[in-house]
Amino acid sequence: MPSVVDCPIVLRQEVAEGHYRISVQAPGIARVAKPGQFAMLQVSGGYAPFLRRPMSIERIFSDGVSFLFKVEGEGTRLLAEMDTGHNLSVHGPLGNGFTIDTVCDRHILVAGGIGVAPLPALAERVKRDCGKAPDVIIAARTERLLLCEDDFRRMGCAIHITTDDGSAGEKALATGMLERLAPDARTCVYACGPNPMLRAVSQMMLDAGVMCLVSLEAQMACGDGACLGCVIESKSEIEGEKMLRVCKDGPVFDASLIDWAAHDLRDDQ
Ligand SMILES: Cc1cc2nc3c(=O)[nH]c(=O)nc-3n(C[C@H](O)[C@H](O)[C@H](O)COP(=O)(O)OP(=O)(O)OC[C@H]3O[C@@H](n4cnc5c(N)ncnc54)[C@H](O)[C@@H]3O)c2cc1C
Ligand code: FES
Repeated sequence: MPSVVDCPIVLRQEVAEGHYRISVQAPGIARVAKPGQFAMLQVSGGYAPFLRRPMSIERIFSDGVSFLFKVEGEGTRLLAEMDTGHNLSVHGPLGNGFTIDTVCDRHILVAGGIGVAPLPALAERVKRDCGKAPDVIIAARTERLLLCEDDFRRMGCAIHITTDDGSAGEKALATGMLERLAPDARTCVYACGPNPMLRAVSQMMLDAGVMCLVSLEAQMACGDGACLGCVIESKSEIEGEKMLRVCKDGPVFDASLIDWAAHDLRDDQ
């Protein structure tokens, strides 16, 4: 069950220019959180910004969780200013999280930019449940924006790096690297990142008959299914309904469900 808890910040790091990690002490949330779930964070003590901001759970520890975020606007700027000792109000865990198919022989995680945020917790869970750390593709614009590489390495993941400018790893897109890893029908692919990447990964995996889960973003007000502010269209009706709430029915979806052409998802991570 999600709860709203004031959680002391126990760690704050600037991990790259404009990118931060904060860890909070939250044993109750950590006990029930699943990789891929998110929390709504109160970024201001006053009225502006009024709405909480959604953030994926990056890691799940025994006594708390961490968040990894990029400063986009006022809310994330205020979040980045919060230091250790501050009590952050956290509403979570919310959403469905990733389902890990333990029958798959191989698991490939695909991270684009700050879309890497929910994947460290998933990599840990894949390793625990399947007995082998996954392959991870980390794609970024440039070397200094590569995130979580050391964390994945410590977990024993096979890491495949691509950058747009060739400053680290291969000068390629995540999709190019994914193609080379040649996922087959016994592979599960999990992706989070900018929408053009998710759209391309989804199409490639659908064409290849590979199971693919994508974690989506949408503007959110309530975060728990009430306001309908985050709806997207599915390809077909589910229980008589074509609209999906990213916060409640997702944020993780089977890629084959999403009607990519029907809505304007955020393209600029
Ligand atoms: C389920 C979920 C999980 C997320 N996890 C992470 C994460 O782990 N790390 C991370 O850095 N970010 C994450 N985000 C995005 C993050 O919530 C937004 O960047 C943040 O809310 C921006 O708030 P702001 O006040 O700084 O910017 P604002 O001033 O509110 O907005 C700045 C710009 O970003 C756009 N924008 C803001 N939020 C969203 C959104 N949710 N979808 C589309 N466009 C948006 C606005 O239209 C505007 O152009 C997640 C979003 C969702 C829905
Ligand atoms: S944010 Fe309110 S229904 Fe999803």
